Amino acid sequence: MIADIVVDLQYGDCGKGKVSHALCEKKKYTHVIRYNGGCNAGHTIYHEGKKFVTHHIPCGVFYGIRSVIGPGCVIHPETFFSEINKLEEAGIPAKKLVKVANNAHVITDFHRAQDNKDNKIGTTKRGNGPAYRDKYDRRGLRVEEDPRFSKYMINMYEELYENEKFKELEILFEGAQGFGLDIDWGDYPFVTSSHCTVGSAILNGVPPKAIRDVWGVAKIYETYVGAKVFEGEDEIFEEIRELGEEYGSTTGRPRQINWLDFDMLKMAANINGVNKIVFNKMDIFDKIDKWNLLYGPNMYQFQNRDDMEFWIKSKLILEVDEEMEIFFSGDKEKI
Ligand code: IMP
Ligand code: MG
Repeated sequence: MIADIVVDLQYGDCGKGKVSHALCEKKKYTHVIRYNGGCNAGHTIYHEGKKFVTHHIPCGVFYGIRSVIGPGCVIHPETFFSEINKLEEAGIPAKKLVKVANNAHVITDFHRAQDNKDNKIGTTKRGNGPAYRDKYDRRGLRVEEDPRFSKYMINMYEELYENEKFKELEILFEGAQGFGLDIDWGDYPFVTSSHCTVGSAILNGVPPKAIRDVWGVAKIYETYVGAKVFEGEDEIFEEIRELGEEYGSTTGRPRQINWLDFDMLKMAANINGVNKIVFNKMDIFDKIDKWNLLYGPNMYQFQNRDDMEFWIKSKLILEVDEEMEIFFSGDKEKI
């Protein structure tokens, strides 16, 4: 069994969908598995020139790959079925490819109603937190108890270990949210309710020894949506928001912007054991021609793109992993 993991090193919205989609095109995956979160996520994917925003469904569907919503996820039935239908209408055979783990948890109307009252964290109001709370309180509703999922339901153990169809499993784990929103490592309480690190992928039923590559995804600047004050004091951030179309793909809220925090990036790369990193949205810095990041108490201002890329590469190779592969990419550029 081989597993690659895509993990976000900042606050979500760094382009995991794009990286997963590119990997699906290149590799021979048998499965793509979403390992955490629910429909709080919004993954923007450009497939054959068309824009798709998915919330629950992993991007394997675009390449005919079995796409599983894993046990670590919470799932909102109405959102799930409407996503399936939208994909089908666009000619993507989602009904055939999408599977849901029987031990994933259901987001109910009650969870949604409770999350709607949030005014402290700035949640996406999708019922995510209350669904996880009930799961850990051992009074949640599992997918196997909801007959609406019967056609999609699988047992994860049988799927991975007792399925004659797949002798050589090659799995892509597609994460949701990001390191800065992780329930343990993020800026608690301004976090989501699930684990957003590689550990979370493993919890979905695959042994650690199966891991081949961990793809860390970041942006060359940072964005965050939620209740805490995050945006730095610089007029340029307004411009970055507009140029980068930094509005939530789930809720449409403006994302707060700041320069890349290199210490946090390094921490996220270490904790996740990242061996490949993609920095997205380079095209936005090309447009504003500013090459800044935060390192310790200081802001570093590089002269140009080459200088910034060189500094980031050297630091990551010297201080995190000497074999790290590092990619810089524009928004709609291929990796
Ligand atoms: P929740 O996950 O809806 O409970 O929201 C908790 C925090 O995580 C809020 O600050 C949300 O804006 C943020 N959040 C949740 N999902 C995403 C995402 O997919 N991208 C970016 N931020 C997210
Ligand atoms: Mg997103």
